[in-house]
Amino acid sequence: MEHGVRRLFDTKPASMAYAAPMTQTAPLPTPARTSRHDQSWVYLDGEIARYADARLGLLTHALHYGTGVFEGIRAYWNADAKQLYGLRVADHFDRMRKSAKVLQMNLPQSTGELCEITYELLRRNQLREDCYIRPLLFKNIEEIGVRLHDVADSFAIAAMPMGNYVSTTGLRCMVSSWRRVSDTMAPVRTKCTGVYINSALAKSEALQNGFDEAIFLTQNGHVSEGSAENIFILRNGELITPPAADNILEGITREGVMTLARQELKMPVTVRSFDRSEMYCADEVFLCGTGAQIAPVVDIDHRIIGDGVPGVVTCRIQQLYDDAVKGHVEAFRHWLTPVY
Ligand SMILES: Cc1ncc(COP(=O)(O)O)c(C=O)c1O
Repeated sequence: MEHGVRRLFDTKPASMAYAAPMTQTAPLPTPARTSRHDQSWVYLDGEIARYADARLGLLTHALHYGTGVFEGIRAYWNADAKQLYGLRVADHFDRMRKSAKVLQMNLPQSTGELCEITYELLRRNQLREDCYIRPLLFKNIEEIGVRLHDVADSFAIAAMPMGNYVSTTGLRCMVSSWRRVSDTMAPVRTKCTGVYINSALAKSEALQNGFDEAIFLTQNGHVSEGSAENIFILRNGELITPPAADNILEGITREGVMTLARQELKMPVTVRSFDRSEMYCADEVFLCGTGAQIAPVVDIDHRIIGDGVPGVVTCRIQQLYDDAVKGHVEAFRHWLTPVY
């Protein structure tokens, strides 16, 4: 770990260790690299530093082989209470620990300590609006050779303001021509960086074909999930969502929606597989996730869902979720941690 800190904060790139060939007359141009995040504070291997100072080497293992695990966490600003609430932060770090185990990595601190670091980072960045937190644990050796074992990890957290990730007023989706990666190929239960090439392919295909979002099928044709969201359908007053065995990421929001629906709306929720045409015939469809929040789907593959507008149940769940994450629902205050 110590090694990782020194290398990542070094102002002199590791490549300077190599002697330049005698024939080289001019140094390679350094591309101007600025980012809107440059002045923000990030956490990296035990230190809080400016984003611009937290540099990685070109040969960083995770960059080449997708050997990292990450989380996506939200914090919501409540203007009345003048308070920022971290949403289920410990649950995200608990999931990250499981993802890390699968990739033979270790989170450096306890979940409680990681939560505290996150809140400190939000305060240091003076964030007083809805924001997004991105922890990343990654293989940080600068060496050629694909593997998981005997490779040092680095751990970073970045935080930034963030509004909606997708539209929350009615998505037009397509069933992707890419199938959801199977757990027999890569660990879909983890938020492993490499697995997200599957999502990137599907999302770009959808956007470039004029849709808003992609929906994956599994290899055997069951509906799995969106590119970065779980899916629910409503049929005859019952909410239905695919099981973990349909290669979904077991979403924290999915679990929250099931609890909200059962507890607050007294609705039946069933976890079972369903296929493409059952989804087309659903009364309502919505996607959910930390980023997406509750996103109604109004059209799939040019088939109008329900009446072609966000459904009544979807809107109630959306409102309830919105109230809960802002601290307005007493029964769900335990999801939130005040940052200030
Ligand atoms: C592939 C995928 N499925 C589902 C989700 C929803 O998970 P969560 O509700 O935990 O954010 C996400 C978002 O992280 C995701 O990337």
